[in-house]
Amino acid sequence: MRKFLKIIGILLVVVVVLLTAGYVYLTTALPNVGPPPDLKVNATPQMIERGKYLAVGPAACIDCHSDRDFTKYSGPVVPGTEGKGGQDLGKDFGGDAGFVPARNITSDKETGIGNWTDGEIYRAITMGVDKHGDPLAPMMPYTAFGTQLDESDILAIIAYIRTLPPVKNVVPPKKLNFPLSLIVRTIPDKPKFIKLPPAANNIETGKYLSAACIICHTKMDKGQPDMAKQFAGGNSFPLPSGGYSITSNITPDMETGIGKWTKDEFIKKFKSYATPEGHNIPVKRDEANTVMPWTQFASMTESDLGALYDYLRTIPPINNKIEKFVLVQY
Ligand code: HEC
Ligand code: HEC
Repeated sequence: MRKFLKIIGILLVVVVVLLTAGYVYLTTALPNVGPPPDLKVNATPQMIERGKYLAVGPAACIDCHSDRDFTKYSGPVVPGTEGKGGQDLGKDFGGDAGFVPARNITSDKETGIGNWTDGEIYRAITMGVDKHGDPLAPMMPYTAFGTQLDESDILAIIAYIRTLPPVKNVVPPKKLNFPLSLIVRTIPDKPKFIKLPPAANNIETGKYLSAACIICHTKMDKGQPDMAKQFAGGNSFPLPSGGYSITSNITPDMETGIGKWTKDEFIKKFKSYATPEGHNIPVKRDEANTVMPWTQFASMTESDLGALYDYLRTIPPINNKIEKFVLVQY
C-alpha cells in the first residue's frame, strides 16, 4: 500500500511538472511566427481603391471595426467611425469567448495603429499576432486572410487602412475566457497565400471572395468553422436592438437553403441596399434585424456578386432549417 501511494505521489508530481511546463511553453514560447516582415507598402491610387473595395466589401474589415447603427436594418456603418473599433464580438458566432472588442485600426498614433509598421499590420492581418507579439482572438479572421487571399490584396488592404482618418478611441483590453485564453496562442501560423483567380473564372473568383461569408455562415466549433457544415448557417449573434440574429443556410438546398434563388434575384437582393433608402430602413427595439452586412456588401460589383452566386451553387446542399431571428431576453 505504501509503495502504491508512493507511485501515485510520483505520478502526481510528474503530471504537475508536465502541466506547468506545458503552461510555461504556451504562455512564453507561443505564438511563434517570427518577427514582422521588413516590408514597405508603396501605395498607388489603384492599390488604395482595391483595398477599399475589399475592406468595405467582401473582407468586412470596416463592418467589424466601426460602429453599426442597429436602429436601422442590417446595422449600416455610422459614417465617421470607420476603423475606430469597440464592437464586442465575444458573444458572437454562438459562443461565449469573453469580452473581445474589435480594435482601433485608424491611423491615430496613440489609440489606433498609426505608429505600427506595414510589416506589423501585415503580421496581424495574416498571422494573428499584434505589434507586441501577443496573439489575436480568432474573431479577427486572420486565418482566412492568411490562407484565402493573394498577397497583393493584403498589401492593397494595408494601403487603404493607412488612409483611414485618425479617430481617438481607447479600446479596453480583451478578456478571453479559459480555455480560449490559452488556445489562441496555438492558432497563429505563417500565411499560405493563394493566387488571385483570373476574372473570367467565376467559380474561382466567387470562392476567393467568400472568405468572410464562410466565417459567419458556417457553424463554429471551438473557434473554427466546422467545414462539414460549410455555408449551412446557424451561428447566432446578439443584436444591440434586442434578440438574436442567426445566419442562414446559403447552400443550394431547395427547401432550407437558397436553391430556389436565381442569379438575378441574388444580385438584386444585395443591390437593393445600395441606395440611401436601403441604408435607412428603421427598425424598432425587439423587431427583426440582421447582422448580415447587406448595406456594406451592396458596394460589391454585380460581376463579383454573380461570381459569389456561381460559386455557392457548387457547394453540396445541406438540409438545415434556420430561424433567422429569435427574440429572447439576454
Ligand atoms: C468578424 C469581425 C472582424 C473582421 C471581419 C475583421 N476584424 Fe480585425 N479584429 C477583430 C477583432 C475582434 C479584433 C481584436 C482581436 C483581439 O483583441 O484579440 C481585431 C483586431 C485587428 C487588428 C489588431 C489591432 C490591434 O491593435 O491589436 C488589426 C490590425 C485588424 N484587426 C485589421 C483588420 C483588417 C485589415 C480586416 C479586413 C481585412 C479586419 N481586421 C477584419 C474583428 C474583425
Ligand atoms: C456578420 C455575419 C455575416 C457575414 C460576414 C455574411 N453574412 Fe450572409 N447573412 C447573415 C445573417 C445573420 C443572415 C440571415 C438574416 C438575413 O437574411 O439578413 C444572412 C443572410 C444571407 C443571405 C440570405 C439568405 C436567405 O435565406 O434569405 C444571403 C444570400 C447571404 N447571407 C449571403 C452572404 C454572402 C455571399 C456573404 C459574403 C460575401 C455573407 N452572406 C456574409 C450574416 C452574415
